[in-house]
Amino acid sequence: MEDKNHTRRKRYSGSYPKKFSEKYKEQNPDKYIDTIEKVMRKGNTPAGMHRPIMVEEILSFFDIKPHEIGIDLTIGFGGHSKEMLEKLNHTGHLHGIDQDPLELPKTKERLESYGFTTRDFTLHQINFKDLDQVNEKGFDFILADLGVSSMQLDDPQRGFTFREEGPLDLRMNPNVGIPAHIVLLQLSEFKIEQMLVENADEVYAKQIAHEITKEKQQGHFIQTTQELYKVITSALKQLPKAILSEELKKSASRTFQALRIEVNKEYEVLYELLEKLPNHLNPGGRVAILSFHSGEDRLVKKAFKQSINEGIFKSIDGPIIPSKDEVYHNPRARSAKLRTAIKA
Ligand SMILES: C[S@@+](CC[C@H](N)C(=O)[O-])C[C@H]1O[C@@H](n2cnc3c(N)ncnc32)[C@H](O)[C@@H]1O
Repeated sequence: MEDKNHTRRKRYSGSYPKKFSEKYKEQNPDKYIDTIEKVMRKGNTPAGMHRPIMVEEILSFFDIKPHEIGIDLTIGFGGHSKEMLEKLNHTGHLHGIDQDPLELPKTKERLESYGFTTRDFTLHQINFKDLDQVNEKGFDFILADLGVSSMQLDDPQRGFTFREEGPLDLRMNPNVGIPAHIVLLQLSEFKIEQMLVENADEVYAKQIAHEITKEKQQGHFIQTTQELYKVITSALKQLPKAILSEELKKSASRTFQALRIEVNKEYEVLYELLEKLPNHLNPGGRVAILSFHSGEDRLVKKAFKQSINEGIFKSIDGPIIPSKDEVYHNPRARSAKLRTAIKA
């Protein structure tokens, strides 16, 4: 007999699902492995998944030995961590940090499903600037893969994407800090322009800051991702038709990136982390940092140079960029820069 409570899933229009909520197959990789493979072959990241970047380069640099103690400061989907745990092969220990309370429990389950247990790893839902809270004397290897995960980017309810409607939030930890729509309310026109330039080199910063402020002055408070996208569209409306759509996409990506950096205080926490980092490395310990935009990379480069000048690090390397092949198969890797250092 048919289950009366069963409701048919709403069919999406066209041949492929476009919205995050329609991509139920991609969000159930165990059940729909063919779909996952098809999506990845096309160079896309399946919804709800994150593909780790420059894994071979990182693993070859770390050269993990049995019984070592490591930490993944940005565990995300656990892609890098799974590989590092495999290298440890149930010896030593891996700590994993992430500030995202929504994704971290899923990562724990995922790592457990690969056969790793709390004897192999410990997860900490904290900001990496609070690394001191992890009860370990020193680490042999430390990884930071900065920025947001694909799971955060793709889920419209988190507010990181302008491609779908959702609340304009953009917090990696929704329990801490101020959501983006309130930040926009608090910032003056000048401060918005400054934020767009400093955090994302936005070319139309002046026009976008002006349009956002005009909306506020008229009593229209931007609450959602699509509302902000509409305001950016108005700010760019004078551009020639031939370039408008391309420029709009780029400007919207940069505006959302700038807001995300502001909301999550990304420069401040990275600066704090970089100051503490050398103290947490054992002699000969290795650190690898993957960054995704020039502001972040500049901070890492400066900190590493300072530590080598002071004799704290014995060697530094980078920036190393992903291979053409990796970028082809995973376009989200295109702006990655890897810097590494070894403690004296
Ligand atoms: C690019 S993803 C990492 C993906 C991961 N390497 C993998 O292979 O699945 C970055 C992750 O770092 C987290 N994150 C970013 N900044 C953080 C911070 N300051 N403290 C803790 N976690 C942070 C984000 O929540 C996100 O899950």
